[in-house]
Amino acid sequence: MKTARLALLALLIVVLAAVALAWPRAEHIPSSSAQAHAPTAANIERGAYLARAGDCIACHTARGGVAYAGGRALDTPFGRFYGPNLTPDVDTGIGAWSADDFWNALHNGIAKDGRLLYPAFPYTNYTKVTRDDSDALYAYFKSLAPQRQPNRPHELGFPYDSQVLLAGWRLLYFKPGVIDTQPARGAEWNRGAYLVEGLGHCSACHSTRNQFGANGDELDGGLIPTLGWYAPSLTSGSEAGLGDWKREHIVALLGTGISPRGSATGPMAEVVARSLQHLTQDDLGAMASYLQSLPATPAPKPARVPPASEQVLAEGGRIYAASCAQCHGDDGRGKLPAYPPLAGNRAVTLTPAVNAIRMTVNGGFPPGTKGNPRPYGMPPFGHELDDAQVAAVLSWIRNSWGNAAPPVTAVEVNRYRATMGD
Ligand code: HEC
Ligand code: HEC
Ligand code: HEC
Repeated sequence: MKTARLALLALLIVVLAAVALAWPRAEHIPSSSAQAHAPTAANIERGAYLARAGDCIACHTARGGVAYAGGRALDTPFGRFYGPNLTPDVDTGIGAWSADDFWNALHNGIAKDGRLLYPAFPYTNYTKVTRDDSDALYAYFKSLAPQRQPNRPHELGFPYDSQVLLAGWRLLYFKPGVIDTQPARGAEWNRGAYLVEGLGHCSACHSTRNQFGANGDELDGGLIPTLGWYAPSLTSGSEAGLGDWKREHIVALLGTGISPRGSATGPMAEVVARSLQHLTQDDLGAMASYLQSLPATPAPKPARVPPASEQVLAEGGRIYAASCAQCHGDDGRGKLPAYPPLAGNRAVTLTPAVNAIRMTVNGGFPPGTKGNPRPYGMPPFGHELDDAQVAAVLSWIRNSWGNAAPPVTAVEVNRYRATMGD
């Protein structure tokens, strides 16, 4: 019975997908004036700024490669993608693309040759970029020096290499759209919403993905499986919700990577370094307004996990005194701005504890930014402490100085170590 139902469901998806593929594509291409994408200094400068707000460089530049010439490998649970060449080389880049083609990629997720694009390119967010901003981006990319660099084919296993399946996915999870402007909220809030939901693509990391790799706009937190990091919920007061932060602390966190309430590390440090630190104070303030207005989600029910044994906690306390206290302090209060507090620090009590595990094993740095050019780092302890010891010290930290969070197990440390390539 069950298999029959599954087979029917599969058939239905295939039929729907076939219909979607055959359907004349509504391309919703609003007209644009030639002026909007003309290669004027003003358009190019605005496009360069928007490219930073969208962090286009992150996925379209190979490590050590020419900016925007593509080749950056992006691992996902579905295979490895390579960001394509966005320089205006006619044969290998976007040299032959029109401003309409460019908009069609950003807004509809469709390439110049009609191919459906994979959502590893976050067009599910960029669809909200206005035609005007798309045109400025186009003017900017067309102004770059053409770089001849053929695109590397993605390495996807069956069935993820199928356009039919992708058409089905888009039918279920993608709707081209524009930002839902709310005049009553004022210009600043709307600008913030536009940046966070659109170009900033915060939800690409900060929301839960289902087993098909689709995510909502909720900013409710999500594990980035291939990176081995947890992007905390931006709506939960017990995770990274910003409702009760001072606005200037949010602007500092996004613009410099550090703030009295927390610092950016790992993938978030890269987002700050490449993208957010280049935004104007006005735009960062607008994002802060929007982020602070997100409705708070209730704290999740505490998981029923047995507490760590007295013995494990005692060992954790010993390790802390010997290896951690010189920076984070006996009282867990740290020494700002160099060493963050661990007492009352939400990054320490997150569940899953992957970020804290990762930090202890591999160490880490906030980003080097104009506002914080020489960040203090956290040394790696992966070779000094085994899985059980990392688990013990973190369990102790998560239950000292008023912190209260489920213990970390050696099994968890071991599982996450495997994705960290330390
Ligand atoms: C998280 C990674 C990521 C980011 C960030 C990103 N892209 Fe991409 N982009 C991709 C991938 C992967 C593809 C290839 C998708 C495919 O082939 O199906 C792509 C494809 C494209 C294409 C189609 C190119 C072609 O040859 O078919 C355009 C245009 C594009 N991106 C523009 C941009 C712009 C503009 C930005 C910044 C606003 C940006 N991308 C940011 C990953 C990214
Ligand atoms: C590439 C994935 C990625 C993207 C894109 C991303 N984040 Fe993050 N973010 C993370 C991860 C992972 C963490 C946890 C590490 C940390 O605390 O810095 C994080 C942490 C944060 C924190 C908590 C920092 C703290 O310590 O209190 C805030 C706030 C935040 N992100 C806001 C944003 C906003 C706003 C955007 C969009 C402009 C964004 N993030 C885009 C991955 C991402
Ligand atoms: C030499 C100083 C130093 C020592 C010793 C040290 N840390 Fe850190 N630690 C830091 C710095 C600096 C950061 C902030 C790094 C960043 O934001 O990327 C940090 C961050 C952290 C974080 C993440 C906090 C956050 O806000 O994201 C955890 C968890 C942590 N340390 C645990 C430990 C543990 C456990 C030990 C001992 C085994 C230890 N630290 C020893 C300097 C130190």
